[in-house]
Amino acid sequence: MTVTFAEKLARMPGYQAGVPTGQAPEAIASGGIAQLASNESPFPPHPKVVEAIQGAAGAMNRYPDPDATLLRGRLAERFETEPGRIVVGNGSCEILLAAAEALCEPGDEILYAWPAFSMYPYLPALTGAREMRVPLAEGDFHDLEAMAAEVTAATQLLLICNPNNPTGTHLPAAEVAAFCERIPAHVTIALDEAYVEFQTDDDPDATVDLLADFPNLVVLRTFSKCYGLAGLRVGYAIGSARFRAAVDAVRQPFSVNALAQAAGAEAILHQDDVARRVETTIAERIRVEEALRAMGLATADTQANFSWIHLGEADEAEVVAGLAERQVAVRPGTPLGDPGHIRVTYGAPAEDDRFLAALGELLA
Ligand SMILES: Cc1ncc(COP(=O)(O)O)c(C=O)c1O
Repeated sequence: MTVTFAEKLARMPGYQAGVPTGQAPEAIASGGIAQLASNESPFPPHPKVVEAIQGAAGAMNRYPDPDATLLRGRLAERFETEPGRIVVGNGSCEILLAAAEALCEPGDEILYAWPAFSMYPYLPALTGAREMRVPLAEGDFHDLEAMAAEVTAATQLLLICNPNNPTGTHLPAAEVAAFCERIPAHVTIALDEAYVEFQTDDDPDATVDLLADFPNLVVLRTFSKCYGLAGLRVGYAIGSARFRAAVDAVRQPFSVNALAQAAGAEAILHQDDVARRVETTIAERIRVEEALRAMGLATADTQANFSWIHLGEADEAEVVAGLAERQVAVRPGTPLGDPGHIRVTYGAPAEDDRFLAALGELLA
């Protein structure tokens, strides 16, 4: 069956940015808007990372290293694996999209929980594969039982967002392992761990250890969140050499620019700094969640750098608009598939105070 240009376009979900386009990052940095809509880090990159970016800037007349050798080598050292098993991408989003393009075609199935990361619906839309969404279970957790039951011979790609965006709920590595045991080898399991550093259930590297047991497992991570490098777009995946070859086969060369490569290669060396950032964010998580509870609001059990707030009787659109009037940007739940909610990222303490005060005022 031929699909027309118009039909193809119509099935694309369209991405909504967290703040209006045209808003310069400097304006956000100067404190005009409390930008709590995109799960970014409120902290600028480590000074050594800024230095590395400046150091690389003078050579911009050259294309970047197509193999990102330094960055992949440092990631391999950090995770005690071979560089051949590491893919880097223009954000982990690029790796997700390329994986779908390489692995899926019409007639195949892509399986994921919902609500989850708003990019996932792009994967079936782009490839023509069938989308299989499994609603989250009680408490906004992945329903692994129901997901396993949906796997068929046509399932090519299965996505697990852990911690899940937008709910923040987290499955411990042992549950992920038990799930992987049940999934047939023809299915690529993409474990999207953009927020894994913020969870306190397990050692964040426990899932990387699972790669030895499950050749069809891929772990995706990013420099956009706890490393404070969202503006550069750089993410990575650890999986099989075959997975890397598949991704490389379908995307453009040089997709990770030279500044991003230099920044990532430096940032990965500063794990103490990452630990400090994560600690500060967890302290904000505890404080914001307590304040929300004190307002009588229920939230999902978050292990990420954001809260998923059930608004109860309050009107989602009015709350989002009221917060925007007070210069606080949050994510509405409706486009993420769950009306009656908002998702708020933890910012710097003063931004979180602004958010809490504004929300309190609106709900009073
Ligand atoms: C679950 C999840 N995965 C991946 C990403 C994308 O990260 P990157 O900036 O590396 O493309 C995000 C970003 O918001 C996310 O929430």
